[in-house]
Amino acid sequence: MDNTQRGFTQPNKDAKLKAADPNPSVLKFMAKRRSALVRAMTAPGPNPEQLALILRLAARAPDHRKLFPWRFLVFKGKARAEFGAHLAEFFKADCPDAPLDRIEFERCRFERAPLVVGVVSSPKECPRGTPKWEQELSVGAVCMNMLLAARASGFAAQWLTEWYAFDGRVDGVLGLQDNERMAGFIYIGTGSEDPMERPRPNLDKLTQNWRKNPPT
Ligand SMILES: Cc1cc2nc3c(=O)[nH]c(=O)nc-3n(C[C@H](O)[C@H](O)[C@H](O)COP(=O)(O)O)c2cc1C
Repeated sequence: MDNTQRGFTQPNKDAKLKAADPNPSVLKFMAKRRSALVRAMTAPGPNPEQLALILRLAARAPDHRKLFPWRFLVFKGKARAEFGAHLAEFFKADCPDAPLDRIEFERCRFERAPLVVGVVSSPKECPRGTPKWEQELSVGAVCMNMLLAARASGFAAQWLTEWYAFDGRVDGVLGLQDNERMAGFIYIGTGSEDPMERPRPNLDKLTQNWRKNPPT
């Protein structure tokens, strides 16, 4: 089976990439990157060309043995409310005494942003043995790339799972196969409020130089 049959697009034969490409503006961009809060998102979202670019860049993630162990579910327009109707139904079944406004919140979850991309973790059987763990890490890298590409395209974005990423009934509505699960939902829109910085880890406490036989 050649690469095209396996679902790849063929690279341009002359597409030689650089091993290293210093880019201070990318470093500055990464140093200031923050997720936006979904409650501070509004229209417009990406247009079809912008979305295509965001997805294409997201998919440029490390992927051991080119298994592409992910796929995307795009929610836009009325699909967001249609999906929300299922969330409201399931939530009401679980919490029949919930107040009406809580049910309505569930119904409108996907309408908090103009566009939501569900990232499905879709591990592949690999005869050469790429572990499922590695494939799942690759999906996380896709999500992170998507946040970066969305933000670099001028949009606010947030990676959420919430309860509906872990619900078998929702998996059914999403059409997931038995071996698939949601890595998350990337909400993308126009930021209506600039986020504040948040606490960041103390890397001195989290980083060690490995040494043979460290003192106990
Ligand atoms: C896999 C994953 C799932 C997440 N799910 C939620 C969630 O359900 N609710 C939430 O408030 N934040 C969730 N977050 C956190 C936010 O997306 C985000 O990381 C956080 O708000 C701030 O991170 P940042 O500004 O450094 O990007 C999740 C993060 C990850 C990586």
